[in-house]
Amino acid sequence: MRYGHFDNENREYVIDRVDVPVSWTNYLGVKDLCTVISHNAGGYSFHQNAEHHRITRFRQNGVPLDRPGHYVYIRDNDTGEYWTISWQPVGKDLSEAKYECRHGLSYSKFSCDYQDLHAEQTLFIPIEDDVELWDVKISNRGGQKRDLSVFAYCEFSFHHIEIDNQNLQMSLYASGSSYADGVIQYDFFYEPWTFHYFTSHVDPDSYDCLRDKFLGNYRTETNPAAVEEGKCHGSFELGGNHCGALHKRISIAPGEESRLVFMLGVGPRAKGKEIKAKYSQLANVDKSFADLRAYWEKKLAIFQCKTPHQGLDTMVNIWTLYQAETCVVWSRFASFIEVGGRTGLGYRDTSQDVMSVVHTNPTRCRQRIIELMKGQVSDGYGLHLFDPDWFDPEKQKAPTFKSPTIAHPPDRKSLIHGIEHVCSDDALWIVVTICEYVKETGDVALFDEVVPFANEGEATVYGHLKRALDFSARHIGNTGICLGLRADWNDCLNLGGGESAMVSFMHHWALKAFVEAAEFLGRDADVKQYSATADKVRAACESQLWDGDWYLRGITAKGMKVGSNENEEGRVFIESNTWAVVSDVASPAHARACMDAVDRHLFSEYGIHLLWPAFSKPNDDIGFMGRVYKGIKENAAIFSHPNPWAVIAECKLGRGERAMKFYDSLLPYNQNDKIEVREAEPYSYCQFVMGKDHTAFGRARHPWLTGSGGWNYTAATRWILGIRLDFDGMIIDPCIPADWKEFEIKRQWRGATFHIKVANPNSVEKGVKEVRLNGKPVQGPIPPQPSGSKNEVSVLMG
Ligand code: NOJ
Repeated sequence: MRYGHFDNENREYVIDRVDVPVSWTNYLGVKDLCTVISHNAGGYSFHQNAEHHRITRFRQNGVPLDRPGHYVYIRDNDTGEYWTISWQPVGKDLSEAKYECRHGLSYSKFSCDYQDLHAEQTLFIPIEDDVELWDVKISNRGGQKRDLSVFAYCEFSFHHIEIDNQNLQMSLYASGSSYADGVIQYDFFYEPWTFHYFTSHVDPDSYDCLRDKFLGNYRTETNPAAVEEGKCHGSFELGGNHCGALHKRISIAPGEESRLVFMLGVGPRAKGKEIKAKYSQLANVDKSFADLRAYWEKKLAIFQCKTPHQGLDTMVNIWTLYQAETCVVWSRFASFIEVGGRTGLGYRDTSQDVMSVVHTNPTRCRQRIIELMKGQVSDGYGLHLFDPDWFDPEKQKAPTFKSPTIAHPPDRKSLIHGIEHVCSDDALWIVVTICEYVKETGDVALFDEVVPFANEGEATVYGHLKRALDFSARHIGNTGICLGLRADWNDCLNLGGGESAMVSFMHHWALKAFVEAAEFLGRDADVKQYSATADKVRAACESQLWDGDWYLRGITAKGMKVGSNENEEGRVFIESNTWAVVSDVASPAHARACMDAVDRHLFSEYGIHLLWPAFSKPNDDIGFMGRVYKGIKENAAIFSHPNPWAVIAECKLGRGERAMKFYDSLLPYNQNDKIEVREAEPYSYCQFVMGKDHTAFGRARHPWLTGSGGWNYTAATRWILGIRLDFDGMIIDPCIPADWKEFEIKRQWRGATFHIKVANPNSVEKGVKEVRLNGKPVQGPIPPQPSGSKNEVSVLMG
């Protein structure tokens, strides 16, 4: 069953059946202001930080599931009948009214056809202003003049998630609202520098600033009193729950269109007036929208492919990049699932997210890299979860909210957690991420930039990386394998203080990347030292972790093997086997055998399971996973994030058919017509898909904020299509299904454009016979070309 389709020309996903089983969301904003919005215009906005600077309210995990929102009501003043441009909250009968939602790149467009009126509401945030514009167009397609009332409505939130959800004895009296000069201002009395506003390009006929006046008692957004009555009440107050509600009467002649623009923004009334003046020039609205489209077109143009696989093209060229960028820009803490209670960056999560979008967002990636460096402790490990503001001297100078509720503030020193909370993988990711960033940008100076540690002292970025690698070298168990510490990538695998195969493999991977960087920088002593460490790590892995048919996942502190054929449960794991290959530790024979085991034991039509068989009972020596239901999340779900590692591993082995089989099984695009199973949006990877041990096998959960966006992008672009970078060259090394006869890529790199045409006349899965740059044969990677140049590259596989 399908609910929509991909419109690639407009780079939109079109939901034409709006009663989807769960909210299908989108992200608006590319800088500081963000709105997470559903296909029904439900959702919330925040400024910079979903914990501290909330603007509109969200009732998380509520019924209905996406309220409140940014709604526009239309009322026919002759009949009193009303509806919303988005299907909900009024929820007209779908057999009488036709609704559509188009989620685009940083905008969403809702439309409705009802009783000869066609209405559209486009929500977007201009790149240059902290304001969400609601561009509303209503056209009369009937033969009669229509007398209408339009109401735009949103509910303001208390500014901090905690005081929005608890401690209402304080928060209910901490904010106030007022109306003047066409602008509703919402203020926070305890935080006299914070204001939000709601205004429109026309002066309204009535307004409400109080939520309960607009909605009325014993009513909801479905049937607001003001809309039913045909006008707002002019309410405002100090204290209470507030809203932005603006009402305008319009009349539209047959064949004519009326346009109204509403503005929800950050700042006091004066700012609201300035923005109102700017966007009352409707040409400025159009220009901002065009600028936003151009912003994305420019990004997308950096990598575009045309292959025989429409789903891959659609996801790589548009949606997976968009998802990966979203994780980098907004981090992983603002969605309908993560509602903002956690804040800042996850060390491992952001390190990985950055890796995949260094080409499309180098500026934000550099910012994130420096933040992550500042979140590293001088001992070498990363703070697992931290807020970059803690280490930003400017932010320390800013006024902070002091609650009248007496609470003991946390001691600054306690922000730096000790070894008991260290995740053994955290800082290893950033080593490779930084190398990837430099390969992309050529910003070699980054290695020598001095950045302080979170606790004390400072080092160059290069020095930070050595500390990360040295930390892993020091924290090993008796077998020479890295200690898993609090956990590794798998939050639920704790090993009771034992050893993690995955981390040793990752250590090898990071060491190799670092040695390559050291070679490039001519730091010979480091090349020697860290190559020797890599050899030692590899030897330990091969001698300690091979189980006969595949690799172990770890060894608990009590010496129990996890991920061994000798176990009843948790015999095979995806992470260790894929990483054995991705890290180049596995010998060719072991590499093939362990990936065959992944295929045999873990593969399914909806993707690769994390482990098999699922754990049926808790075992705290292994970790938390036995306390998770079978087939869910880390206990044998199809956890999406490691799936692309299997694709990469297969590409390394040259098995293009199998790489594509793995890629295809998880590809959301492929499930567009199976929504009765998948439920979640088909344009976003989800954190996990219920595994075969669960009754809801195939159901996807937690869209958007997952490392699988970035990693699937990396797997497809760098490994299947095979465009990878060196410090001074571009490598072209595809691994594809044998029946792909040809494909094309447009790639921009360091200012030059490369039009790459790959031919595969002999139907191979891997292997490049010849590369020509502008007609001339090239041996090895293609060197950087002059900025602004256009280059033709032809590649012959065979
Ligand atoms: C989600 C967490 O955000 C991520 O850090 C972790 O690697 C995965 N769960 C797996 O446990």
